Amino acid sequence: MKRKFNIHKVLLINKNVKDSGLLEQAFLTISSSFVIIKTRDTKKGIGVLNSEKIDAVLIEYDLVNSAPDFIRDIQKGNLYIPVIAIIEKGKELQAAEAIKKGAYDYLLKGTGYVESLSRVLERIQGASELNNDKEDHLEQQSMLFMKIYNSRNWLQNIIDSITDYIFVIDQNYKILRTNKAFANLFGSEPADIIMRPYYELFGLSEPHEWCVLGENRDPVSPHSVERTLNNTYYLISYYPIFYDEHEAVVYIMKDITETRRLKDQVYHLDKLSSLGTLTSGVAHEINNPLTGIIGYTEMLLMKKGDDTTTKYLQNVHDAALRCKRIVENMLAFSRQTPAQKSVENINDIIDKTIELHEYWLKSTNIEIIKNYGKVPAVSVDRQQMQQVILNLLINAEQAISDTDTRGRIEFKTSFDSKSKYTVIEVDDNGKGIPQDILPMIFDPFFTTKPVNKGTGLGLSIAHGIVSEQGGTIEATSVAGKGTSFIIRIPQIN
Ligand SMILES: Nc1ncnc2c1ncn2[C@@H]1O[C@H](COP(=O)(O)OP(=O)(O)OP(=O)(O)O)[C@@H](O)[C@H]1O
Ligand SMILES: [Mg+2]
Repeated sequence: MKRKFNIHKVLLINKNVKDSGLLEQAFLTISSSFVIIKTRDTKKGIGVLNSEKIDAVLIEYDLVNSAPDFIRDIQKGNLYIPVIAIIEKGKELQAAEAIKKGAYDYLLKGTGYVESLSRVLERIQGASELNNDKEDHLEQQSMLFMKIYNSRNWLQNIIDSITDYIFVIDQNYKILRTNKAFANLFGSEPADIIMRPYYELFGLSEPHEWCVLGENRDPVSPHSVERTLNNTYYLISYYPIFYDEHEAVVYIMKDITETRRLKDQVYHLDKLSSLGTLTSGVAHEINNPLTGIIGYTEMLLMKKGDDTTTKYLQNVHDAALRCKRIVENMLAFSRQTPAQKSVENINDIIDKTIELHEYWLKSTNIEIIKNYGKVPAVSVDRQQMQQVILNLLINAEQAISDTDTRGRIEFKTSFDSKSKYTVIEVDDNGKGIPQDILPMIFDPFFTTKPVNKGTGLGLSIAHGIVSEQGGTIEATSVAGKGTSFIIRIPQIN
């Protein structure tokens, strides 16, 4: 059965006569009561609008010159005439542009004209009904539009003020709506990314696994997942909604990189503190018998014995000394004594540490580069900070000794006036640290070195000391290229 529409007179602006004919045919299939007026350009179209009462305008968006301006100008007038942009398949982005200019809806060119046209006509029926009573209700009508316009703006302003990333997609993953924060993530404005498949913005050719819709393109049930996208951690929550007659899904992405970092840090500190208590107890227990072993072997060594006995005793003595060094390290790691802080210059501390180690550096032919910035005095325990720098220096040397290239260790200092932290950077061109072991290097007893070379305590001691001074230490590395350690010490309050 043919439907009755309140739209009678339709203006059709189309350069392509054949297309105009097809559309006219579609109109007449839907209802015989339509009067179609056809023109080929906007100038003549305006002439028609000025002389007749037109209920709806259809305009070919791509081929008709100045179609976007025409749509915009019609909306500026106080007479509301729904404009439908005719868009070529594959140029859907133009639909978004036309709607931005003020078009009421759009129609995809093609064989399915009849079906899509009747849907669009039903949608504008309401607008047309309003228009029929325009004489009586013009004021009421403009107030209504004003209200809709304002509430739309009000809602957009609210979602734009949210710093989390929000976007709404349809069943083809195309963005229906978004907030500023999400668009800005890609250096765009919301209007520029409407109707684009969301995953293209991430440089992908298909949706992420967390975004895949059901078999029938049904929206997923509400859910949250944590994912890394472009080196940032996000908590992604999605909610199915009903949007403009279609099923759609709202996505909210929250940047949780910093929260995760703090959580990891707390976990790490917690682990360190319990390990600290444990090791200090064990180390004290071992220290006493060890002092006895060293003392007695030294006494025995002073006595004249045969060569084999002396050799064995010497071995015992060396092994005991090594145990002593390990125990000292363990005690340093679980330091019970508070830091003796004084006002110090970081550049000076680095200089003195390098000086202490100069002989060794010369013998390994490692080039030391100093790139000191102007840094304010900091309040630190000098001995302990020297120990931190020395640990980093020794690690760098050892990493370099495993490569064939000429070693280079660079010390950089600077002051970050924004965070008010003094920054120390120690870079080397050693063998680097593989990404999978990088998160473990500050763990006590973690070492990749042979048994007699490392105890795995150097960096955990450094971590403990820097944390006690209120600072942070972190590492970045590229395996095969080198490693950078960055220490940040807070400004004196
Ligand atoms: N500059 C660096 N380059 C490459 N790897 C490093 C570097 N610094 C640390 N590492 C890695 O981190 C691990 C832990 O370092 P840490 O200083 O805590 O212990 P260690 O050097 O093995 O032993 P210790 O310092 O107790 O003698 C090292 O075994 C090494 O694998
Ligand atoms: Mg070390």
